Amino acid sequence: MTAETLDRGLVLDSVRVTEIAAIAAWNLVGRGDEKAADQAAVDAMRTGLNDLDIDGEIVIGEGERDEAPMLYIGEKVGRGGPAVDIALDPLEGTTLTAKAMSNALTVMAWAPKGTLLNAPDTYMDKIACGPGFPAGLIDLDASPAENVRALARAKGVDENQITVCILDRPRHGEIIAKVREAGARVHLITDGDIAGVINTADSDTGVDLYLGLGGAPEGVLACAALKCVGGQFQGRLVFRNSDERMRAERCGITEFDKKYDLHEMVRAEAIFAATGVTKGALLDGVRLRNGMVHTHSLVMNSSTRTVREVRMKRPV
Ligand code: FBP
Repeated sequence: MTAETLDRGLVLDSVRVTEIAAIAAWNLVGRGDEKAADQAAVDAMRTGLNDLDIDGEIVIGEGERDEAPMLYIGEKVGRGGPAVDIALDPLEGTTLTAKAMSNALTVMAWAPKGTLLNAPDTYMDKIACGPGFPAGLIDLDASPAENVRALARAKGVDENQITVCILDRPRHGEIIAKVREAGARVHLITDGDIAGVINTADSDTGVDLYLGLGGAPEGVLACAALKCVGGQFQGRLVFRNSDERMRAERCGITEFDKKYDLHEMVRAEAIFAATGVTKGALLDGVRLRNGMVHTHSLVMNSSTRTVREVRMKRPV
């Protein structure tokens, strides 16, 4: 399968899938039920994927087969057609949705079969910055201060002009302190590190650097997006126990300490789509006006570096 085939056939299909999932999840916004919101998005996304002429395999999904009945890792979707690896997060920000907080998204990416990292459901230590800098500028193994300094020099600004996005978690206490000591600002997010990483590539967000531990599956999705818009990413799997190591083994991971870069996580041209469920820095949320439901999506194709913003409306 070629990158052109992906481009022609799947760019708009992908956004249709994230749109229907966002509308389904939006019905559950603010209702305090994370599971129901996730399930609604999963059901819709699965129905959408099974309607497409693809031979799709979920490589990043809802979990392993015995714990996720739908969109589990290894599930085949579609009616037949080009063979694609699919990475998805039917609802990125289940808590954000349940509490009607900003930045909840539905997300998916696809790439030719066998080219997305089969990341286990573990944490990943991540660092990311936007495009336009020399390769290797940031490094997961450098200190927060070194990374802040390198980025400030490359941008030609003082360290105090750099903003670092970090998930607001107790495990990040030390990184947060070190970033502030280095003179940079810290932009804390309660959830949603796919958007956190993507925001480094959009100067309007004011975020320059992303640091910290988040989900490994979310890391692959963020890499698919950065592959389309440019930027740098490094990630290393983090295991809390032997069960998580076994999960990695089942995904075919053999080098447990490997530092992955963006192009090792997404090894071919990819298409990435996301639709806002609740309003955020990246996208507007779903809205209902005069009997019409409105969505706002982003769909990007790395082979052409095309970024489309898609606004859809249809009767409820
Ligand atoms: P969910 O949508 O599955 O709740 O994930 C949200 C999220 O914030 C991700 O963006 C992030 O990678 C992960 O959770 C962080 O995990 P934790 O909440 O354990 O710190």
